Amino acid sequence: MNVYDARRMADVLAPLGYAHVETPEDADLIILNTCHIREKAAEKVYSELGRLRQLKGDREDGGDPMMIGVAGCVAQAEGTEMLRRAPYVDLVFGPQTYHRLPEMIARALRAAGETSGPGRGVIDTEFPVESKFDSLPQAVETGPSAFLTVQEGCDRFCAFCVVPYTRGAEYSRPAEDVLAEARRLVEAGAREITLLGQNVNAYHGAAPSGGEWRLAALLEALADIDGLDRIRYTTSHPRDMTADLIEAHGRIGKLMPFLHLPVQSGSDQVLAAMNRQHRVEDYLRIIDQLREQRPDLALSSDFIVGHPGETEEDFEATLALVRQVGYAQAYSFKYSLRPGTPASVMKDAVPDGEKSDRLARLQSLLKDQQQAFNDSFAGLTVPVLLDRRGRGDAQLAGRTPWMQAVHVDFEASSQADAAYGRTVSVRILSAHPNSLAAKPNEVTASTQEAAAV
Ligand code: 5AD
Ligand code: SF4
Repeated sequence: MNVYDARRMADVLAPLGYAHVETPEDADLIILNTCHIREKAAEKVYSELGRLRQLKGDREDGGDPMMIGVAGCVAQAEGTEMLRRAPYVDLVFGPQTYHRLPEMIARALRAAGETSGPGRGVIDTEFPVESKFDSLPQAVETGPSAFLTVQEGCDRFCAFCVVPYTRGAEYSRPAEDVLAEARRLVEAGAREITLLGQNVNAYHGAAPSGGEWRLAALLEALADIDGLDRIRYTTSHPRDMTADLIEAHGRIGKLMPFLHLPVQSGSDQVLAAMNRQHRVEDYLRIIDQLREQRPDLALSSDFIVGHPGETEEDFEATLALVRQVGYAQAYSFKYSLRPGTPASVMKDAVPDGEKSDRLARLQSLLKDQQQAFNDSFAGLTVPVLLDRRGRGDAQLAGRTPWMQAVHVDFEASSQADAAYGRTVSVRILSAHPNSLAAKPNEVTASTQEAAAV
């Protein structure tokens, strides 16, 4: 979502004359867009700011002003503290106010003209009543694969999680706005859209003709857009995996057979302490139902090890769950205390050494599963949306329907140029832990030649 937000900030700044530059030294404005989900985020921001301070000083010594902004959830959480610790920062703003960047910049420029030193930075960490989405300009640029935020914030209040406090309460964009943005993205060249939300499957936006649409209805309408080939959504909560959404996975061909469905733990006691509001068996039932709808569905998840109260037995239950489900990919983290969350005052903290040990064991199992999943593709022919340049002129990179990264080597750069932005059938030559290597399928190559003739 930070990638999406950063792109939208660039859209807001474009009418003011700002454009991307390649190096920070050349920038008139540098914005650090930050994430607060785990510890040390704030410290990392301050150390990065220390480096930028130097840059800003050098530039201003030469009489050339430079502005520094901090955006995102660290800015939201730190607020005035950030200006106290880093008084050379000009702008501090949260994830809900970046549509106001032009006026913040104007205020910061005025303040810089009037005073210097501490106290001149502009802060905007409100949760405004207006939605930023109503004020943002239309998305102008996109690659073949685009993000689209449909829902923000979260009302689930998992005990360990800071998101409900930093991103705020749940908000779903009206379906009409989402569809309009999707059509614009497709017109601008997007072939794949990933719908984003902290808890995206809780989506319940205003429907075009009154009432509300849940995510399944939105997916159905998006699938009708000509030129859009692939739809994904992330991140979901098991409790919001409703029957209509599960069925959508069987019904909507454009919905890709890959789902990121975080479970966090395989122990009912830990799930209860985490306030996840479901049991292990509920999660397993959902997975079964999804696989009934879409037998080739690949799964991904998030795991936290060492949540307060987690015993060795609880952790082993997580390993057992992983073995039972079989993941194509997953993210796993050591529990990280977030001040202000219910888990931060829970007893029975797990020692860091124990957390590290459990993380290593879990990651080793997940890595084996990911390798086995990738290995099972060797020799197969799969469609890949080529959305990035690879190494050299004749290589492109993209993703399979199951989210694996693929590097495709063409025989000539002209072939690669022609294939960029398209979904191409490729033959998988070898499988690596994090990617697949492929060449264009001969059938496709000859079809292309026939078309060229
Ligand atoms: N400690 C460790 N991991 C966390 N996550 C969220 N909060 C914490 C925390 N306090 C992880 C969860 C979530 C993912 C986005 O980040 O696994 O699904
Ligand atoms: Fe955080 Fe996700 Fe739980 Fe919401 S559902 S509180 S974003 S972990």
